Amino acid sequence: MSATRKVHIKSYGCQMNVYDARRMADTLAPEGFAETATPDDADLVILNTCHIREKAAEKVYSELGRIRLIKEAARQDGRAVTVAVAGCVAQAEGQEIIRRAPVVDLVVGPQSYHRLPDLLDATRAGAVVDTEFPVEDKFNILAPPSPAAIRARGVTAFVTIQEGCDKFCTFCVVPYTRGAEVSRPVMRIVDETERLADAGVREVTVIGQNVNAYHGDGPDGRPWTLAQLLYRLAEIPGIARLRYSTSHPRDVDDTLIAVHRDLPALMPQLHLPVQSGSDRILDAMNRKHTAADYLRVIDRLREARPDMAFTSDFIVGFPGETDADFDDTMTLIDAVGYSGSFFFKYSPRPGTPAADLGDQVPEQVKDERLARLKAAIDRDLTAFNQRSCGSRMDVLFEKKGRHPGQLIARTPYLQAVNVMAPDSLIGEIRTVTIDGLSTYSLFGTLITPPHSSAGRLLAEAGA
Ligand code: SAH
Ligand code: SF4
Ligand code: F3S
Repeated sequence: MSATRKVHIKSYGCQMNVYDARRMADTLAPEGFAETATPDDADLVILNTCHIREKAAEKVYSELGRIRLIKEAARQDGRAVTVAVAGCVAQAEGQEIIRRAPVVDLVVGPQSYHRLPDLLDATRAGAVVDTEFPVEDKFNILAPPSPAAIRARGVTAFVTIQEGCDKFCTFCVVPYTRGAEVSRPVMRIVDETERLADAGVREVTVIGQNVNAYHGDGPDGRPWTLAQLLYRLAEIPGIARLRYSTSHPRDVDDTLIAVHRDLPALMPQLHLPVQSGSDRILDAMNRKHTAADYLRVIDRLREARPDMAFTSDFIVGFPGETDADFDDTMTLIDAVGYSGSFFFKYSPRPGTPAADLGDQVPEQVKDERLARLKAAIDRDLTAFNQRSCGSRMDVLFEKKGRHPGQLIARTPYLQAVNVMAPDSLIGEIRTVTIDGLSTYSLFGTLITPPHSSAGRLLAEAGA
């Protein structure tokens, strides 16, 4: 192994990029790269980019401006810095990135990360661009994390089970940047999850652009559904909590609803993006469902699991969206009662059908609608958190809090709770009473004394 070099990976965008960044780090570790938290002392800087909205994509270029200065300064000190752009901007813009930002040595699309070591070698001879969709399965070649790396990342983890999207919503770049839907085989996912569990991971979120379209090959040679996969993952010793994200309302089938009813490890919280409450806009977005279809899915999930909570994504100002369309969205928000959501102003993306539609909504109207939508979501989020106050909840202790003696734990709904508790509880699930609330988090008190100190008390009493 060569002398240790340092890699800094900065991720933008969705959880797929968070997962990919880890797998890139894992793949570079055997090459002698250790991770560093800043670009300043890095020998390799990777920007793992997002192309979903114009603002996200443009961020890359301002960041590359800063990195150019770092690279210059390092060069004057006699140190070479390699700069790579990965992720969805890399896939969408390819060679164009090097034209606009000559500081870049490597442009690598999401389907080529397993080739990183070779591609980095190739940059010695000049800038390299790899935005192929190769035939080999990158997941089988990307190195797995070491137990030490897993432990350093904490007790929760993402596992990609599916990548790409065949839905082609008219506003969205993902089908172009991530390619067609591909599901990983069941046993690969099981192996990866077992490895995580063995190193202390207690909660796994299986991720993909569209996870409920999962249809990976099962050990019986047949394609398995997401529901089947979740049951199998719940059998893995150590795995106490499961989540999945993101899903499309069209692919929520009876088997998935049944898992919410029957599998206690599956948390009662679901991110189910609807985008709009107007049937006219949903149709123009090519979502292929109506507002009523969506509400029916929510009702059926709540019937199966009455304590279910929902979050969504919303786009305001899709081309042609009228006041009446937007009112339909507000009506849907009231009907569902979300526990939080993400909301975005429509951003026309090159190459997507909606970008060419006439009737683009003026920026000022988008701003007004966004503010109204945010107010409604904030109201519902606060109400949801207030309802949690006074209740008992099982929480997973994740890490140390800001104050001495305090830990941060998560409720089944992903709310952060500050609890006075010993460090030995990290990775454990305990019941707490929620007894306070601030803007971003809850405060809780342990109900049952932690087993370790109870054990110690007994031992002391007996001694
Ligand atoms: N696969 C997921 C999410 C994909 S992107 C899904 O289908 O739900 C995450 C969110 O970004 C989308 O849900 C959408 O709300 C938002 N988004 C995507 N393209 C956008 C665009 N062109 N302008 C504004 N928001 C967009
Ligand atoms: Fe984009 Fe639609 Fe696919 Fe989600 S389902 S990734 S919004 S095309
Ligand atoms: Fe962005 Fe690509 Fe994810 S465009 S949202 S990083 S799939």
